Amino acid sequence: MTPDPLSPAHVTLDPAFAVGPVSPRLFGSFVEHLGRCVYTGIYEPDHPAADAAGLRTDVLDLIRELGVTAIRYPGGNFVSGFRWEDSVGPVAERPRRLDLAWRSTESNRFGLREFADFVRKVDGEPMMAVNLGTRGVAEALELQEYANHPGGTELSQRRIDHGDEQPYGIRLWCLGNEMDGPWQTGHKTAAEYGRLATETARAMRQMDPDLELVACGSSNRAMPTFAAWEATVLEHAYEHVDYISLHAYYEESDGDRDSFLASAVDMETFIEDVVATCDHVGARLKSDKRINLSFDEWNVWYQKRFHDAAPGQWEEAPRLLEDNYSVTDAVVFGSLLIALLRHADRVTVACLAQLVNVIAPIMTEPGGPSWRQSTFFPFAQASRHGRGRVLQVHVDGPAHETARYGEVPLLHATATVDDTSGAVTVFAVNRSQDRALPLTVALGATGVTRLVEHSVLADADPEARNTLDEPGRVTPHAATGTAVADGTLRTTLEPLSWNVIRLA
Ligand code: AHR
Repeated sequence: MTPDPLSPAHVTLDPAFAVGPVSPRLFGSFVEHLGRCVYTGIYEPDHPAADAAGLRTDVLDLIRELGVTAIRYPGGNFVSGFRWEDSVGPVAERPRRLDLAWRSTESNRFGLREFADFVRKVDGEPMMAVNLGTRGVAEALELQEYANHPGGTELSQRRIDHGDEQPYGIRLWCLGNEMDGPWQTGHKTAAEYGRLATETARAMRQMDPDLELVACGSSNRAMPTFAAWEATVLEHAYEHVDYISLHAYYEESDGDRDSFLASAVDMETFIEDVVATCDHVGARLKSDKRINLSFDEWNVWYQKRFHDAAPGQWEEAPRLLEDNYSVTDAVVFGSLLIALLRHADRVTVACLAQLVNVIAPIMTEPGGPSWRQSTFFPFAQASRHGRGRVLQVHVDGPAHETARYGEVPLLHATATVDDTSGAVTVFAVNRSQDRALPLTVALGATGVTRLVEHSVLADADPEARNTLDEPGRVTPHAATGTAVADGTLRTTLEPLSWNVIRLA
């Protein structure tokens, strides 16, 4: 028997009440030298679809469709052992190295030059990380000069000799990765890292004052040093950096699906805690400057499976972290996107970790096809339609009790308005696993009168997923029964669903 629908949820939209503009960089992603993200993911010279540079054109097409903007590179944990000079120059002369982070062997066949070419081909923006684990200020400066200086010096000439006359023009840089984590090669205390990040930032800005710099925040909100780490780092680096990073991964554990579906509660609290910490330090320093947030790793990731697996044996491009996402995962993922949009005033960079094969929206087989995971769809839709300004959305509606987060609203929603066309898009998740959720949205003040599309990602089988054998099993469908009349949108959200409602 189908359970009764829930009592209705109500939302009122008014363009006069906005959170702020959406930075295009909110739809960034991440390419790490990890598993098969690079090799046989984006780069596979022997693949029938490879271009002259060895990039898989089938994957490039999917990345363009996904709509990613900033692309963070080369790690992640990998960057803390990265020697940038190994990754440039004639490919045949590049050294093979042990990658301690993922116990793999790195061939360096794909490096900085190939990354710059890749980013251009997907119309992205490079976001480069420097190694502050095993290296420091000098190597960061060398990489910056090689990459960005137009010419006339040994390092810039080296780039030109390697075939790239034009500098890569990388504006956005991460000062290390997860330096608070004891697993990080070259892990540091907050004071040690705060000093190093400050001196690196100061030196990089001596070369180019216009760079945008991201200091490492905590690896996740559960770290014992969380918040104290951010405060100490920023006490050193506040005037020298533009962003502090946040990382968060969510997974279903102990069969507690209701808490998993409410993961965005944790993400939003995390964001608000970091904003408070930044502003507290700013106030103490009597600074007019505001530090923004770079949520440069976020996703659903079944970490327990990874940690339970045998450690790597120095293979090249092993199959690591190849999570296969269900409809349930995609609904949680959509809710995480909603959380980011709801904080677009302070979260101005965000990177879905990662892009291909490794906890990714795009999967590939070596020598074979590529396909979209369930999580591909919410990202592509949010990147395409979640632009303009985010409107304030206050949800009035039913809630339920979760073991991890207490009482949680069943509707999680946000909305954007494109001020040029006047178009409004509502993004909404129904967290109930088994009950439909009636929704009314008062649109009067927005001036929109026409429903363009109501797209839903939901399935009778919440475990359904796309696979090599069945790559089109999960895909969004059009909702029925959604209507706009007398300035009000009326619809019913399917149980456990991600919804995109476009209005003109
Ligand atoms: O994205 C996978 C890994 O997760 C990254 O390398 C690291 O920064 C994080 O812990």
